[in-house]
Amino acid sequence: MAQTSSSVVVARINIWIIFTWIIFGLVNFSHGVAQLSNLESCALGFCPQRTYAKAIHFALIADVKVNESAIISTITNKTADDLEAISVVYKSLYGESLINELRDYLTGKFEELVAALISKDYEFYAKEIHHSLRGNSDDENVLIDILLTQENEKLSALKQAYAIQYLTSLEEEFEKHTIGNFKKLILKLLECKRDKYEEINYSHAENDARKLYHAVNAQHEEANYDEFIGVMSCLNWPQLRQTIMKYYTLFGESIETVIKNNYSGDFARGLLAIAEYAKSKDSFIAQRLYQSLQDDIDHHSLIRLIIISKNIGHNYIKEAILLRQHVSLIHLILERTNGSYEKLLLSLFEE
Ligand SMILES: *[C@@H]1O[C@H](CO)[C@@H](O)[C@H](O)[C@H]1NC(C)=O
Ligand SMILES: *[C@@H]1O[C@H](CO)[C@@H](O)[C@H](O)[C@H]1NC(C)=O
Ligand SMILES: *[C@@H]1O[C@H](CO)[C@@H](O)[C@H](O)[C@H]1NC(C)=O
Ligand SMILES: *[C@@H]1O[C@H](CO)[C@@H](O)[C@H](O)[C@H]1NC(C)=O
Ligand SMILES: *[C@@H]1O[C@H](CO)[C@@H](O)[C@H](O)[C@H]1NC(C)=O
Repeated sequence: MAQTSSSVVVARINIWIIFTWIIFGLVNFSHGVAQLSNLESCALGFCPQRTYAKAIHFALIADVKVNESAIISTITNKTADDLEAISVVYKSLYGESLINELRDYLTGKFEELVAALISKDYEFYAKEIHHSLRGNSDDENVLIDILLTQENEKLSALKQAYAIQYLTSLEEEFEKHTIGNFKKLILKLLECKRDKYEEINYSHAENDARKLYHAVNAQHEEANYDEFIGVMSCLNWPQLRQTIMKYYTLFGESIETVIKNNYSGDFARGLLAIAEYAKSKDSFIAQRLYQSLQDDIDHHSLIRLIIISKNIGHNYIKEAILLRQHVSLIHLILERTNGSYEKLLLSLFEE
């Protein structure tokens, strides 16, 4: 009798455990389905990304001619997570990587822009840096643009992607392919993790401003480089902005003028870019994007800056260009580009 009742209790407990387990599983499952960017739920067929992947496939293969407008409307206002999920679902549906398919079917600048948008950003940046270090273009802007604008986690992801893709570290690459103080500067940018601390220490700002002043005004033959490299590469952005402002109030000269008077070449351009970015991220990127859209349009930079400005928001950049240059970005795009490339650019900035 006692035996029977205890086995009943055990059975009840087991049923409760199974019941709780089922409920727990269901909650987790619906939670997964509710998060539409969740790749697992996509694999199970519960996500709009499946529809988008199909739409892209259809646009690529349905006709003799690729339906480029369908591709534009499918990828335009998607987040990076969405696009990643679309790529994963695409692969599971068709057994081909989405990026390779796009590269096979599309051409020209349109292909470049679509491929950049579909790629993971850090993989795109890794490729850009590799290309820039190997090319004869001597384009220090690529390195500066990317190293300045990426947060620490992105820089770590970029370093990792670089090592995987090219079997060498980013540091070794910079060591090998860049020279002089510019090399010191970008290695420091990579090494120094700017903290996200948003509070400003005013007495540090004053000390650093004085250190910079002494670096260029002491009685040595040549301006000291290391102070500038340290301050410009390592302070968090609000702190650096304060230091730059303090320099002006203490010594009546802008840091840009000081840099131009004391330094030259890639090193000076790198420092100027950092100073400008510290003052306003939006207007730095806006200015660079505006430059890329001049008469001799620089498509390569344009595409890179489109990817960089995704983090800030294309609309902010559009406004910053209007404020700073008094021209409409849409107008510039219409004037300088054409075809589906133009349509995609317009839709990115009109979303
Ligand atoms: C391209 O796709 C769009 C929408 O996805 C559709 O409205 C249009 O008819 C298609 N064009 C062609 C030529 O098939
Ligand atoms: C993308 O655009 C569609 C239609 O214009 C809109 O319904 C949707 O909310 C947009 N998605 C995002 C992430 O902005
Ligand atoms: C600024 O830094 C100094 C020295 O590190 C410290 O003593 C001071 O308390 C800091 N000031 C503020 C406002 O955090
Ligand atoms: C560095 O810049 C400062 C400020 O513009 C200037 O007074 C100084 O002469 C420059 N130093 C050298 C070595 O050119
Ligand atoms: C767009 O412009 C490029 C040169 O800027 C030209 O080669 C190409 O044929 C043009 N495409 C269209 C569709 O007009």
